[in-house]
Amino acid sequence: MAAPKISSLLSCSFTSSSSFSSSSAMFSSIGRNSSRRRGIFRYSTAAAVEEPINPSVNVNYTQHLINGQFVDAASGKTFETLDPRLKKRSRMILRFADLLEKHNDEIAALETWDNGKPYEQAAKVEVPLMIRLMRYHAGWADKIHGLTVPADGLHQVQTFHEPIGVAGQIIPWNFPLLMYVGSIFLYCINAQFIKTLIPSTCSGAGLPPDVLNVVSGYGPTAGAALASHLDMGKLAFTGSTVTGNSVLQLAAGSNLKPVTLELGGKSPVIVCEDANVDEAVELAHFALFFNQWQCCAACSRTFVHESIYDEFVEKAKTRALRRTIGNPFKAGIEQGPQIDSDQFEKILRYIRSGVENAGTLETGGERFGNEGFFIKPTVFSNVQDGMLIAQDEIFGPVQSILKFKDLDEVIRRANAASYGLAAGVFTQNLDTTNTLTRALRVGTVWVNCFDVFDAAIPFGGYTMSGHGREKGMYSLQNYLQVKAVIASLKNPAWL
Ligand code: NAI
Ligand code: MG
Repeated sequence: MAAPKISSLLSCSFTSSSSFSSSSAMFSSIGRNSSRRRGIFRYSTAAAVEEPINPSVNVNYTQHLINGQFVDAASGKTFETLDPRLKKRSRMILRFADLLEKHNDEIAALETWDNGKPYEQAAKVEVPLMIRLMRYHAGWADKIHGLTVPADGLHQVQTFHEPIGVAGQIIPWNFPLLMYVGSIFLYCINAQFIKTLIPSTCSGAGLPPDVLNVVSGYGPTAGAALASHLDMGKLAFTGSTVTGNSVLQLAAGSNLKPVTLELGGKSPVIVCEDANVDEAVELAHFALFFNQWQCCAACSRTFVHESIYDEFVEKAKTRALRRTIGNPFKAGIEQGPQIDSDQFEKILRYIRSGVENAGTLETGGERFGNEGFFIKPTVFSNVQDGMLIAQDEIFGPVQSILKFKDLDEVIRRANAASYGLAAGVFTQNLDTTNTLTRALRVGTVWVNCFDVFDAAIPFGGYTMSGHGREKGMYSLQNYLQVKAVIASLKNPAWL
């Protein structure tokens, strides 16, 4: 983890002694392919050295185009062009993405094998999103810069946006690859937990060997070491609120490193009386059961207006009974097993508590088959706010359907959770949409859709769901230091 490497990754220098001061003079004397490399900017943005790429096209036109005619330069000389690709950080990340794309199905299979999630979901949604995230980040690599700041007095004031240093990342098991790409990579040297497939892929992309370090280990030892490490400039954590709390304390007790936390939730779906019920049933089902509800954004409190409540419950039950469950490698399977026996047992305990607390078990409620950690898609109706199943993040396929009468009431109840990650709103009414999207204390609101993630859309939580945003331009600030540089000005032409 050699932090000084950052400077070599970011340095930019002129290799020519003269600048591009007289383009018209050059125009008259020099065409392309000249051996004189005047005024050419050379960026040394990565340490990767590779063999040159031989393009399959012939360069036939090396002349000026004047009055519709190709003509030689007066001097007969031409400019040399330089292929900047191999030196660019963004190119390196793009090559990483290309390699991931090439291995899409293999990576997806490993995800399913490790995790139990449907292979089709991993292959068609998760790995492609991971690649999209990487390409999006690659685009930022050469667009990050500071400002020139107006200030009182004879001073030239600038801000530099510098890399924050070594960045650690502790990723969870539910979407390890997505979590990894969503946070980091762009402007920092990393240390993180990641499956061993990744290092071989990124070395093929030309990453310098000490830029990405992968450590596999247990939370209380390896994770805690990362959180309390004195050389770590920043930490990103995704996992439970309890562990997020201890990670924050370790950071505070060591070097006060900034920590972004993504901690899950108890997100509401609000189905209003004017909603398209069939569409809302399908999306609320997806919002909860996707990835066996091993998903931080899962909407696990389904609030339905009293006028459509019975119809909704009946249809939600029918949909859950139709959910295909089994071998996640089989085509058409929607639900695989839960991650491990701890989670499996924990979920069954929550289901028992739902029954004991007089929730109506509409369907499911028990294991599926007699091997593996499969749980039948479970639907509870008549759920009350105070019940454990309406308060805790279960992280298993258990849908809780609650009834509401009016908007003020549902806003109050939706916001009463200790979490604030996401919400779904189903309505055709623009005023209702505007009221709910502003009133809900969550980091993401999906309106008549759900689980729409994109590389450009920021994601993160309010309150106990954590702080900081990942993805999109908002994530950049997590990985940058802002340095103010104030220099004395003598005889400025303007202020
Ligand atoms: P966890 O929060 O204990 O583990 C998440 C990550 O933190 C793992 O990589 C783990 O190795 C690491 N970790 C654990 N203890 C640590 C420590 N003392 N210092 C540093 N790192 C540590 O979550 P767990 O036990 O896997 O799952 C329990 C519950 O957490 C789930 O049922 C779910 O409710 C929630 N969870 C939420 C996630 C989300 O996406 N927000 C992801 C995973 C779990
Ligand atoms: Mg744990």
